[in-house]
Amino acid sequence: MNTEPSTAVWSRTVGRGEDGVLLVGGCDVTALAAEYGTPLYVVDEVDMRGRAAEFRDEFGSAFAALGAECSVYYAGKAFLCSQVTRWMRDDGLSIDVASGGELALALRGGMPPARIAMHGNNKSDEEIAAALEAGVGRIILDSLAEIEVIAAIAAELGVVAPVAVRVTTGVHAGGHEYIATAHEDQKFGLSLATGAALEAMRRCHAAPSIDLTGIHTHIGSQILSVEAFQESAERMLGLRAQFARETGVEVPEVGLGGGYAIAHADGDEELGAAEAARGIAAAVAGAMAAVGGTWPSFTIEPGRAIAGPAGMTLYTVGVTKVVSLEGGGERRYVAIDGGMSDNMRPVAYGAEYTAALASRVSDAAPVLSRVVGKHCESGDIIVRNIQLPGDVDRGDILAVPATGAYGRVMSNNYNALLRPAVVAVRGGAAHELVRRDTIEDLLAWDVAP
Ligand code: LLP
Repeated sequence: MNTEPSTAVWSRTVGRGEDGVLLVGGCDVTALAAEYGTPLYVVDEVDMRGRAAEFRDEFGSAFAALGAECSVYYAGKAFLCSQVTRWMRDDGLSIDVASGGELALALRGGMPPARIAMHGNNKSDEEIAAALEAGVGRIILDSLAEIEVIAAIAAELGVVAPVAVRVTTGVHAGGHEYIATAHEDQKFGLSLATGAALEAMRRCHAAPSIDLTGIHTHIGSQILSVEAFQESAERMLGLRAQFARETGVEVPEVGLGGGYAIAHADGDEELGAAEAARGIAAAVAGAMAAVGGTWPSFTIEPGRAIAGPAGMTLYTVGVTKVVSLEGGGERRYVAIDGGMSDNMRPVAYGAEYTAALASRVSDAAPVLSRVVGKHCESGDIIVRNIQLPGDVDRGDILAVPATGAYGRVMSNNYNALLRPAVVAVRGGAAHELVRRDTIEDLLAWDVAP
């Protein structure tokens, strides 16, 4: 039996060297582990930038065929640092940030402020001021209460705030309740159904220090259904037309959000850029034919679909043990040197991953295994059920694919573990994007006298 995960879950430059060691970006993973330590996040630059370019080109050309524009904002929440910002900037993408911290990273990476969109359901005054002072291209308004706050801060700074209204379309999509964002009973956005979105558009339009640039929606994350995106786009264009009928103003931009699903484990499906672009463009064309008027420009905001497949996590195996299962049979526990602190997704969303023995190939018979972390919780599981070679043991390196999105950015110091470094690999060379925490960091954060 072959225990190797299918190629669909690995980044595009992954292969095996003649000695059987996993290679990514031309780098031998045992050399990466020796140089940077484990756990280690590895980003395949060619893969990440390739996916970014695909979204840019597929959406660009599908909308250009309709005579419209579609810009791609990389959702920085998936994984952000100054180098990633530079890649996105140089490859013609813009960036979506969701906090003052993400804004600072995007600015440090040299993203032109006009190509930054600032999100957040509860932006602080400081975050709004920082965004306006930097000159971001869009602030995405998330509530009626925020209108006065943004208007006042803009007036005080003597600027006009470019604002898009975040709309809750009622389309509910996504892999898990916690990552679906456009149904009614949740914290984001302004409801289309109750008229709150329309009211926010009216108020923004009337505010002298606000420029209503458009409307925006994001329906969730890890979404496979093109139909959900289509329905949401149709509702957004209906809202734009309704506002135009009422005020004579056709807002220039419609943001359709991110959320395109990727494969994490064998057999998972993904929603690729080409399929999504074709489907969404077709729905937009239909909706525009129905409502009439001049065309807006469009934006999308993929995060996971750009960063996720490009990343893998390398772990070193420590303890292994075999336990008896209640119904008979056995399971082998393979403990690695990280866990729920560097990948919260299995614990938080029941997300499923896969893993492979990366430091060598093995002929040993596969056995039912569970890859677990080193935290003091039994739920600290990275891969619940997997067939791994029965001789996987202390010192071996395991690679877990598709961890490039929502991995490092959601990592934490539970049990005072050190958050891993992130290295980028390309053409046989590696360089650090984010350094590993140190024990000195932990001690430095501990400031009580
Ligand atoms: N735009 C907005 C306004 C968003 O809130 C998000 C994600 C995105 C774009 C990007 O969505 P993506 O293309 O990455 O699916 N921590 C969760 C995912 C939370 C997503 C939050 N918002 C996870 O690990 O699954």
